[in-house]
Amino acid sequence: MLDKSNRQINYLRLSITDNCNLRCQYCLPESSNNFSKISNLLSTEDIEKIVKAFSLIGIKKIRITGGEPLIRKDFPEILKKINRIEGIEKIAITTNGFNLLENLEEFKQNGLDRINISLDSLNKEKYNEITRGGDFDKVFKTIEVAAQKNFDRVRLNVVIMKGINDDEILDFVNLTKNLNIGVRFIELMPIGEGKRFNSMKNSEILSFIKNHYDLEKAANKITDGPAAYYRVPGFLGKIGFISPLSNRFCDKCNRIRVTSNGFLKLCLHYNEGIDLKTYLKNNISIEELAQLIKEAIYNRKPEEHKMDSKDIIENIETKGMNEIGG
Ligand code: GTP
Ligand code: 5AD
Ligand code: SF4
Repeated sequence: MLDKSNRQINYLRLSITDNCNLRCQYCLPESSNNFSKISNLLSTEDIEKIVKAFSLIGIKKIRITGGEPLIRKDFPEILKKINRIEGIEKIAITTNGFNLLENLEEFKQNGLDRINISLDSLNKEKYNEITRGGDFDKVFKTIEVAAQKNFDRVRLNVVIMKGINDDEILDFVNLTKNLNIGVRFIELMPIGEGKRFNSMKNSEILSFIKNHYDLEKAANKITDGPAAYYRVPGFLGKIGFISPLSNRFCDKCNRIRVTSNGFLKLCLHYNEGIDLKTYLKNNISIEELAQLIKEAIYNRKPEEHKMDSKDIIENIETKGMNEIGG
């Protein structure tokens, strides 16, 4: 469907939990434990109903996010249910990869097309420190195996922070030499714990890489979202840049979000939206739900959000990245 500003909305990012097995330093406080009660999360049935309603209004791609979506025991069931819904053409997941290796084949059989895995360091100890406990070897193995498995796409999300992992930029680029993956550098957004770190502009990262490699622009399909892609000639994989701070892409925004508590979020940076959970509790029909969502999307804010940090910090957005799912 089109919104009032003529943007084609065909992509839903669905967060299914705000909890995570890790505590990445820029995402969650070490002691955080005030996650949603299970009863406040969307149930398997709620999720199925929501996706059916979204498919009625023309959503074709679902990205399942968290927190960490794979900590939900019903994830395999959720995947199967979404896979059976008519109109949904692509199913993707954004995960830290902790619980994926043993399930890769099964998930692929059940409709998972694309995988984004967060990995902020290639150094075991540093990875462990940034994530406060992550198992580097396992995640790296998962990436290697997934890259061989003929998924539609396997990509890494890398958040570069000054003084923390900015010495690893070329190591990440070199990963694309023999692995058919997309390595994406994401600018750290000053939301929640992210405010404690110094982000690095993607323009700086790009010119640093260009000092060492010739880069050619790689094709970017419109469904690829906000990343701009490049390739080192001869390398198998690509590198990409997601630049929410330095590059505006609101005018091309094709996505809509549902948070883990069932809030339909019309823009990443604003709290505007509707609480679908209340309607689900009152047993709303799929058709009525679709109508409600359609009207909200149609009327979503046309204007661009200002991308400087001050604006985001001073904004009404109070949710953490773990609730929104990116
Ligand atoms: P596709 O668009 O499905 O290819 O994936 P993606 O790159 O958006 O998905 P992923 O979950 O890997 O997102 C990575 C990060 O990109 C998110 O955590 C956000 O930081 C950023 N991002 C994604 N979408 C948006 C957006 O609409 N606006 C802004 N500002 N940042 C976004
Ligand atoms: N800014 C940018 N990216 C973030 N992520 C988590 N918090 C932030 C932030 N403040 C990233 C994770 C993950 C993706 C879903 O969001 O690294 O890859
Ligand atoms: Fe978990 Fe992702 Fe947040 Fe790290 S960034 S704590 S993996 S939700």
